[in-house]
Amino acid sequence: MKILLISSSPHKGKSSTFLLAQEVLKGLPQEDCRIDIVHLADCAMEFCRHCEACHKNILNCPINDDVASILEKMLEADGIIFASPNYISQVTGSMKTLFDRSAHCIHCKRFLGKYVAGVVSSGSGRNKEVLDYISFYAHTCGAQYPGGISSIRLLEPAARNEAVKLGEILAVDIKEKNQYPNQLEIIERSRQQFKEVIAMRKNDWEEEYRFWVDKGWL
Ligand SMILES: Cc1cc2nc3c(=O)[nH]c(=O)nc-3n(C[C@H](O)[C@H](O)[C@H](O)COP(=O)(O)O)c2cc1C
Repeated sequence: MKILLISSSPHKGKSSTFLLAQEVLKGLPQEDCRIDIVHLADCAMEFCRHCEACHKNILNCPINDDVASILEKMLEADGIIFASPNYISQVTGSMKTLFDRSAHCIHCKRFLGKYVAGVVSSGSGRNKEVLDYISFYAHTCGAQYPGGISSIRLLEPAARNEAVKLGEILAVDIKEKNQYPNQLEIIERSRQQFKEVIAMRKNDWEEEYRFWVDKGWL
């Protein structure tokens, strides 16, 4: 299985969020598991310009930075762990920038069959809104969300154990293709909402429209 950990703290290897995410990695099996780690702080990333080029020609973004290669890794992964510090009850700007630049994955539900886990740390430990946002992003791209983990800045022993467990759950879900019926309903509702949009914009978003037709969704 292929696991991608995307961490958005500027503290990179010394980040509390990343340390917690590494505990999640400990729950993954040693064999048959390829782990790739991306620190967004190492990446050149510009904001989405809303030019819609990636909808007209799939993922054909005119911005020449590191986002294309990150999106490629996301599309190849079976499981993605998004690790972000809590910045004013949200993910960091860099993580949000990546999410914005992945709008095609939302239009075409490109994460169907994938699993996403969230990891957050903060000064207060009040991280529900941030984890909820990561879960929302997963669902809107078509992925299921086995869970999220959070901690205050210094790693708490309880969070450490919970993090390892989350890694174990993520691995089992991927291996056994587990289904969360309530989440599949949310994902299906989102797909239905996009059906109208894609049909309406068929002349503008030619390749996304063709993607939907090829899938038999339109
Ligand atoms: C711009 C900014 C905004 C922050 N906002 C919050 C916040 O709303 N609530 C909170 O509890 N901590 C907040 N913090 C603290 C960080 O979330 C906390 O220090 C976190 O553990 C840093 O993680 P890292 O070591 O992985 O970078 C903020 C920090 C920064 C730099």
